[in-house]
Amino acid sequence: MQPILFLNFKLFEEGTGSKAVSLAKLCERAASETNSKIVLVVQPTELSLIASKTRLDVFSQHLDGIDFGSSVGKILPEAVKRAGAKGAIVNHAAFKVSNEHVQKAVARAKQVGLKLMVCAETTERAVEVAVFGPDFIAIEPPELIGGTVSVSTAKPQIISEAVKAIQKVDKKIKVITGAGIKTTDDVRKAIELGTAGVFVSSGIVKAKNQKKALKEILAGFK
Ligand code: G3P
Repeated sequence: MQPILFLNFKLFEEGTGSKAVSLAKLCERAASETNSKIVLVVQPTELSLIASKTRLDVFSQHLDGIDFGSSVGKILPEAVKRAGAKGAIVNHAAFKVSNEHVQKAVARAKQVGLKLMVCAETTERAVEVAVFGPDFIAIEPPELIGGTVSVSTAKPQIISEAVKAIQKVDKKIKVITGAGIKTTDDVRKAIELGTAGVFVSSGIVKAKNQKKALKEILAGFK
């Protein structure tokens, strides 16, 4: 399978509004020039905007496993789909949820035809959520998120352990490496450790030269 770069725009100013559109276009060009797969992970309120401006797949930064009804302020799977998204993430370290939430989100995402990526802070949590059968699990030690040392360099054993443990539960789940990824080498190591791609934010979104940062990261897939 072709490795994937998941790019989380978070709520950075550089990943919002017209700047988010420019970044999405930059990613689209980089993906086509290098024949790479990039998925843009954006805030729910900007899904329609970004999905309408790019051919790249767009994921929501959150999803609630709820149905149409009297809920207020939650993220309805059908609405995410109609906004043009192909999937969603849940349980990011900056927006943690319970296993019950994850289970419902996975079930509803499957029902409406969205892919789901669950973030997990440890191998233990990854194994707990793997039983629900998400499409992807992103392993992200919280202390390395936004830092300068990548998980694949600082804690490679966490990644290889997690890959093994998750595959024991469900071989179909693709494991993604996240936290502090910034260089070609970080990405290469992540792939060597058996993961199907990387989950990146600050290394690209906050980079002085986003184009150069993207190129550096995508080179790790070659
Ligand atoms: O969502 C991806 C993220 O948590 C990793 O962030 O800034 O360490 O690339 P960053």
